[in-house]
Amino acid sequence: ASMAARVRALVAAHRGDRGALLPILHRIQAEFGYVDPDLVPLLAVELNLSRADVHGVITFYTDFRSGPAGRALVRLCRAEACQSVGAEQLVAHAEQVLGIKVGQTTPDGSVTLEQVFCLGNCALGPAGQINERVQGRLTPARLEALMVEAVH
Ligand code: FES
Repeated sequence: ASMAARVRALVAAHRGDRGALLPILHRIQAEFGYVDPDLVPLLAVELNLSRADVHGVITFYTDFRSGPAGRALVRLCRAEACQSVGAEQLVAHAEQVLGIKVGQTTPDGSVTLEQVFCLGNCALGPAGQINERVQGRLTPARLEALMVEAVH
């Protein structure tokens, strides 16, 4: 099904439900991997909200991606425990070598860089997740090696 068709079906399922937008967005993201910004007008009409409201919710929650993720999805923890052992330097390094900012995907579609706030691996910070695997004690060199491995 197309994303638009799926939105209509989800809206029908949530008809009359006041807080429908967020669960619908989560479903779309779970099924398609991202929420196409082109859905904003459709969602607004179907849910009787303004486009600005829908757009605001999508951008407020950083878990919604606006396009498909790259082959390697790299999520770096920026919560307190990891920050105290160098998470920010790691994020800055990743942004520099990839040439993108957190929340973006490299133009060749190989890597998506995201931030998370705690992966439950606080004792082994700085922590990150590359595709499905949580990694600990990341150094810039190890992170680079893991990213190279993940895209190949
Ligand atoms: Fe980074 Fe918990 S603070 S894993």
